[in-house]
Amino acid sequence: MEQEAKINLKQRLAYNYLRDGIHKFIAYGGAGGGGKSWLGCEWLMQCCHYLPGTRWFVGRNNLKDSRESVAITFGKVAKSHGFHAYKQTSDGFVFNNGSEIIFLDLTYYPMKDPMYERLGSKEYTGGWIEEAGQVHYLAFEVLKTRVGRHLNDVYGIPSKILVTCNPKKNWLYTTFYRPWKEHKLEREYAFIPALVQDNPWATEDYIEMLRSTKDEVTKQRLFFGNWEYDDDPTALCDYDAICDIFTNEHVKATGLGRLSADLAMKGRDRFVTGKAVGHVCTIIIDKEYSPGKMIETDLRNAMIEHRVSRSNVVADSDGLGAFLESYLTGIKEFRGGARALDDRYDNLKTQCAFKLAELINNRDFRVICSREQEERIKAELAQLKQASVDSDTKKKGLISKDQMKAALNHSPDYLDMLIMLMIFEIRKPLRGAKATVTDVD
Ligand SMILES: Nc1ncnc2c1ncn2[C@@H]1O[C@H](COP(=O)(O)OP(=O)(O)O)[C@@H](O)[C@H]1O
Ligand SMILES: [Mg+2]
Repeated sequence: MEQEAKINLKQRLAYNYLRDGIHKFIAYGGAGGGGKSWLGCEWLMQCCHYLPGTRWFVGRNNLKDSRESVAITFGKVAKSHGFHAYKQTSDGFVFNNGSEIIFLDLTYYPMKDPMYERLGSKEYTGGWIEEAGQVHYLAFEVLKTRVGRHLNDVYGIPSKILVTCNPKKNWLYTTFYRPWKEHKLEREYAFIPALVQDNPWATEDYIEMLRSTKDEVTKQRLFFGNWEYDDDPTALCDYDAICDIFTNEHVKATGLGRLSADLAMKGRDRFVTGKAVGHVCTIIIDKEYSPGKMIETDLRNAMIEHRVSRSNVVADSDGLGAFLESYLTGIKEFRGGARALDDRYDNLKTQCAFKLAELINNRDFRVICSREQEERIKAELAQLKQASVDSDTKKKGLISKDQMKAALNHSPDYLDMLIMLMIFEIRKPLRGAKATVTDVD
């Protein structure tokens, strides 16, 4: 009896959205134990059961994870409903009425499949992205175009994607959480915050485990469902400010044009060039590794097309920069390790990075680029972190590039390009301070 009296109101609200004719993309969760996995399994089970012959997906960042964790919850849900008319296969679940649920591996392979083309051929009725915090935003974008394509017309049902997640400052934050908080969610989107306290089936032990979590960041995120909790106090840029750089339309492009080029090294990095006019930077070149000669030609053409003179171009010196300068005489070669113009910083790159962070935090910087570039730039800027202050010199420093690469899984090419641009912004605080780069005043 008591069992029946239990209702998770948040899950009920989710069902309303999952059934209406308005919302298409429903994010649920933003904390631990709120019944996310249960909701996903139960919703799909009902859809499959009541709509024979339909096809649904469950996607996670890792196929092994989906098989294991989803299968366990699915089994529990089926048991609680006394439902047996399905069987599990290595690809998902097949129902006796011909409906199926397919496990999708949403791992991002930037080299092998940068646009998730492998998802492009399948057609689904709808689907669920579980633990979406680990999933690349492009997977969501592509899946949006794959639903509503299998028997939706026959049954007259709208296409839906359920997204379940813990708080994460990535596309989930900008697509769902922040607009929800500001009452600006687009009509087709919904967000339902669901905490462990909202779930009457969560055991006392589980709640206590979350409550007594020693790690403050984990506790804030998973117990309180706090999306704003700053994961890292050493981050130089405020995350909201980072997100704002793509919409800071009040920042006007006035002044001389400048180019900053981060040169690709043997297929590891990208060749990225930004053009800045005042504090507005547009990405004008973005390629996988190109040979030195082609880089030179591209840069030369960019200077002509955008009317930027040599002394207003900066390129990195780790490798190709030296080579470039000999061909494109007069461009600035960025030596990040050189002495800073201001002695408070451990080197020139650090000073430039702090300047960039200052402009970003003051909402005085704008970047114009594609949506894909946007996601990468956000991730890279979030890696702009202060290294533990060196107690001997008391100078400010950054975490190493290797640390950034380890966190990003790639080289921070856009970040380096933006940092180099600041060579045109920084100033010497004292007269007569030495610098390797020609006077920038
Ligand atoms: N509607 C429900 N009916 C019965 N048990 C539920 C229901 N929703 C959640 N639970 C139980 O509550 C606990 C937490 O749910 P779960 O879906 O695993 O949460 P999350 O995925 O958000 O961490 C699990 O033990 C789950 O079985
Ligand atoms: Mg779960």
